[in-house]
Order: sequence, then C-alpha cells, then structure tokens
Amino acid sequence: YQISLGLIGVGTMGGALALNLAEHGYDLSLYNLDPRTIDVLIARAGDLAPRLQKTESVTELVASMTPPRAIMLLVPAGGPVDASIDALMPHLDPGDTIIDGGNSDFRDTQARTAKLEAAGLQYLGVGVSGGEDGARHGPSMMVGGSQQVWQNLQSVFEAIAADFEGTPCVAHLGPDGAGHFVKTVHNGIEYADMQIIAEIYGLLRDGEAQSPGQISLLFGRWNQGDLNSYLVEITAGALAAIDPETGKPVVDVIVDQAGQKGTGRWTVIEAIRMGQSASIIEAAVGSRVVSSERAVRQMAERVLREQDMPVVGFDEDDLEAAFRVARVLAYAQGFRILKAASDEFGWGLDFAKIAEIWRAGCIIRSALLDDISDAFRSELPQGRLVLSDHFAALLKGNVAALRRVVSTAVLAGIPVPALSSAVSWYDEISKARGTTNLIQAQRDIFGAHGFRRSDKDGDFHGLWS
Ligand code: 6PG
Repeated sequence: YQISLGLIGVGTMGGALALNLAEHGYDLSLYNLDPRTIDVLIARAGDLAPRLQKTESVTELVASMTPPRAIMLLVPAGGPVDASIDALMPHLDPGDTIIDGGNSDFRDTQARTAKLEAAGLQYLGVGVSGGEDGARHGPSMMVGGSQQVWQNLQSVFEAIAADFEGTPCVAHLGPDGAGHFVKTVHNGIEYADMQIIAEIYGLLRDGEAQSPGQISLLFGRWNQGDLNSYLVEITAGALAAIDPETGKPVVDVIVDQAGQKGTGRWTVIEAIRMGQSASIIEAAVGSRVVSSERAVRQMAERVLREQDMPVVGFDEDDLEAAFRVARVLAYAQGFRILKAASDEFGWGLDFAKIAEIWRAGCIIRSALLDDISDAFRSELPQGRLVLSDHFAALLKGNVAALRRVVSTAVLAGIPVPALSSAVSWYDEISKARGTTNLIQAQRDIFGAHGFRRSDKDGDFHGLWS
C-alpha cells in the first residue's frame, strides 16, 4: 500500500515529526502558514532535505501528492484544525486521509471523523506524546480511527514511534476519538505526576530551606530506583540548572505561574461527567489555576497567613514512600477514567497495551508502567489496579509515610493539594462503611429520595418529624 504523505504545521512538533519521517525513508510534502519556517527546517535537515518538499498553499500541497494521500496536521487544537480540514477537503480525493496529531478534544475528533467519512474521506485522531525530542526520535502515539485506515498507515507509525525493547510505542486503541481521549488522560496523569513532584520540592524548599541543588540530588537518587521516570529525571536536571545571567538556580528566577492548554482540565471534566473521581488530577489542574492568580496570592500571604508556623522537617524515606503511593493512586484514577470512557463509548480499550505504549517516548514514561501492564495482564480483583497483589502491597506498605508527610505539611501550612487528595482518596476507597448513610438521610428529609437499609431489601423512607 503506497501512500503519499503530507504535513501541515511545521512548528516544533511538526518539524520534528517531518525529520523523523524523512529519516525513516518517507518523502513528504510540507505546508506551513509562514513558509519561511519550512525553509529553516530544510536548511537544517542535512541529508534528509531531499525528502522534504516545500509547498506554498494547501492546493499546491495536495497537488504535489498522489492519491491515496495522508496529510498530518500538527496545528494548535481547536479552530486551526477545523480551518485546515476545511481548506483541504475540497481538494482531496475519496480514500484520502487527514491525521490530526495535536492535543485535540476527543469530542471534536469524533465530530470531524463523522464529517470526513460522510464526504468519503478518512480521519485519524492521534495523540502524540514526547515533546520535540520524542517527535524527532520516537514519540508514543495513541491512535483512534477505523481499523482499515490504521492498517493502511500502521507501518508508517511503527517506523517513527519510540521503541521499547523492540516494540513500537504506538497502537490503534479504538475508533474516532479513542486515541485523543487516551492522550488527554495521559496528560491528566502527567499533570498529577508533575504536581506531586512540585509539592515534594515545596516541602523541601519551604519546610527545610533546602537549595535546588540539594533537592536535585534527591530526585537524582530516586531516579535510580523504582521511582525512575522521565519526569523525575528532568526534575533533577531542572533543579540543578544555573541561570547564566544571574548565577542563581534557574528555578529560583522562574515565575511561579503555570499555564495549561486544556487536556488536564478535560480529563477532570470528563471524569466527573462519567461519575469518576479524578481528585488528584483535579488538584493539579486547580493548582495551576491558583498559581496564575499571583497578585491575589501575594496579597493573601500578608492578609491570611498566620505568623508562627512551626518549623518542620521531612524524612527523605517518607517523602519517597509518599511519592510512590500518590503516583500510583494518580495512575489508578487515570485508568479508571479510561475504563469509564471505554464502557460508555464501547471502545474496548486495552489497558495493558496503553500502559505498554507509554513505556517509551511519552512524558509519563516510567518504570511503574511495566508493573501496571503486568497488573492488567493478570486477573484484577474488582477490575481495580489498587487491588492487584503488587499494588495493594505497595500501597499498604507505604501509605503511613504519606500520612506523615501530609499531616506535617498541613501543620506547617505548606500546600500539598495532590498529596492530600491522594491520601483522602485512599482512605475513602478503602473504607467499607463510609458516611453517605447520613447523606441519604439528609436527602430523604428534604427531598424524599428514599434509602436502602442494611438489614432488609427494598426502598424506604424515614419517619422524620
Ligand atoms: C506530551 C505533552 C504535550 C504538552 C501538552 C500539555 O505528552 O508530549 O503532554 O502534549 O506538553 O500540551 O501542555 P499544558 O501543560 O500546556 O497543558
């Protein structure tokens, strides 16, 4: 199956993917709003330059290719994707495929797939993770679309994907929006993992006045053990870096306001819509929001902070264990959200496979994913990751440390929204008798909602006076 490849959007990700494709022997036509970006790419492509063809309009891009065509979009999610599709559609032939490799909302991908298919065209929604370096040397890719379109393009994706011990980190996960949904939840987990790491940094910085360099060494050590992950590795690097202008640690000159483009928030929105808890991910999303309100925080520190907060210290082994537990719980929430969506949309997601294609190339790649895929490949009690033999033992063996870390942090007024959400969620899901019996009573009093009794079957009302 000979397919002619094109790419629209030669920015950071698009340019890197173009070079990756060229390196694997694919010729491709390129189009970018600002054509000079293509010149720059071709100029630095070296031996690969002859594989890259610059075009100056969408019409020229399509004309430079022979059907069947596959044109990948690496443009910002939202309007630019629709604009590219609308510009392409009149020029394409039946059987041509548009691939959206951006961080699109999976609902948009579902609608776009339907629109393209109604016009005799094909659509793939592909979550691409790994940043510029991943795109250039092997990203992890989560593909949604029809089985047939996937088969047509499988070899291309497998050629450019990250390699994990001989297995390409790409898979066809389900129809239309499935790939983008899985990428969204990947990012939700990414947000949580980053937040947990930032909180631990905060405990050492504000609780113990440790320098970034000292904290870097700790993350560096953790990266040698079971907490090994790309995010831990880059954290150690970030904390060690020195600002050439001031000679200070770079993290000390970076403003504490984090942006977000939507995927973390969508994870939480979809989770809640499907009746799932995403409390750890929500804590991470909420923290970025609070971080953006810098002026308010600066005033509130003067107005609201108590003066005599206790000086505290944290045991490094406790921090490590707390991180271990919170991270597993964040992943567990992410996989529950995937399960709920898979059930709702009939996607039949393969959770072990998802864990496996996240083992290389993507931002959340970590040693933990091996254990997660093993757990999904064995019988999971109640379908719950946290109840697998491996994770149950890990959680039970480390949770006391998480309790100590969170309670010390709370007493010292150091914010730990993700870590505290993690321990609360743990306590809630592991408590056989919760407190919603009282909520049921309240609901029955004000709304006659009824309740079930533990001693007999049926629907009951209280004789409330
Ligand atoms: C990845 C990243 C990448 C990007 C997102 C998240 O998997 O390679 O998740 O897609 O960093 O855009 O960005 P925000 O933090 O800006 O939402």
